[in-house]
Amino acid sequence: MQRFRIREGLDVVVVEDDAGFASFAADQVCQLVQEKPDAVLGLATGSTPLGLYAELVKRYEAGLVDFSQVRTFNLDEYVGLDGDHPQSYRQYMRQHLFDKVNLRPENTHLPSGTATDLWAEAARYDALLKELGPIDLQILGIGENAHIAFNEPGTPFSSRTHVVDLTESTIEANSRFFASRDEVPRQAITMGIASILEARHVMLLAQGIKKAEAIRLSLEGQTTPEVPASALQTHPSVLVVVDKPAASQLTILR
Ligand code: PGA
Repeated sequence: MQRFRIREGLDVVVVEDDAGFASFAADQVCQLVQEKPDAVLGLATGSTPLGLYAELVKRYEAGLVDFSQVRTFNLDEYVGLDGDHPQSYRQYMRQHLFDKVNLRPENTHLPSGTATDLWAEAARYDALLKELGPIDLQILGIGENAHIAFNEPGTPFSSRTHVVDLTESTIEANSRFFASRDEVPRQAITMGIASILEARHVMLLAQGIKKAEAIRLSLEGQTTPEVPASALQTHPSVLVVVDKPAASQLTILR
């Protein structure tokens, strides 16, 4: 494992393999929960955090971490899928984390994708974040186009929780989780970039060569809404956990 500092508050940890990746990320979560048993965790879905969640389940089963007072907020949810739908993000979270550790169901928050008034639901989510937050540690993945949550290129940095139309590339990328492309929802409710930046600490996770350009542009490029994750350069405490392929375009490593 190697650690680099791009600048004060923006550190990059390059891990050797998948096991090291999951274990280092889990260390950050467990350390926080030990120090602050009622911590507020910001959670992400997708392929990247799966190893982290599996490691957290393992540590919980070994009695090494207690989630009984932890509160969680997920970044996003598909519009039109209720929490019981197999491809909903609530189901993903239940399958990989919520049902396998002692998180209390009432402490786990996701936007509802089936609210009749989606914008009212977005406002409710922001109000809840304000009431229970700030998030202590926000876990983030990143898209190949540097999106964070469903904030696609062009999303204002001032955005709060909102309803988005998914881009064709995101629909394509996410179709791997559905029986067919036609089944992928066309909209989602997502935390905005401003909501994400309010977290006290952010841990951005990326694996694989397909993320290398997004990682370079986000950490070393210009801060611009065209590169949503570049907003993290304005945050005071970001830890980026990457494997070697995802780190391969960073100039600090050359
Ligand atoms: P992934 O998705 O973890 O499945 O690569 C990340 C993202 O699109 O935010």
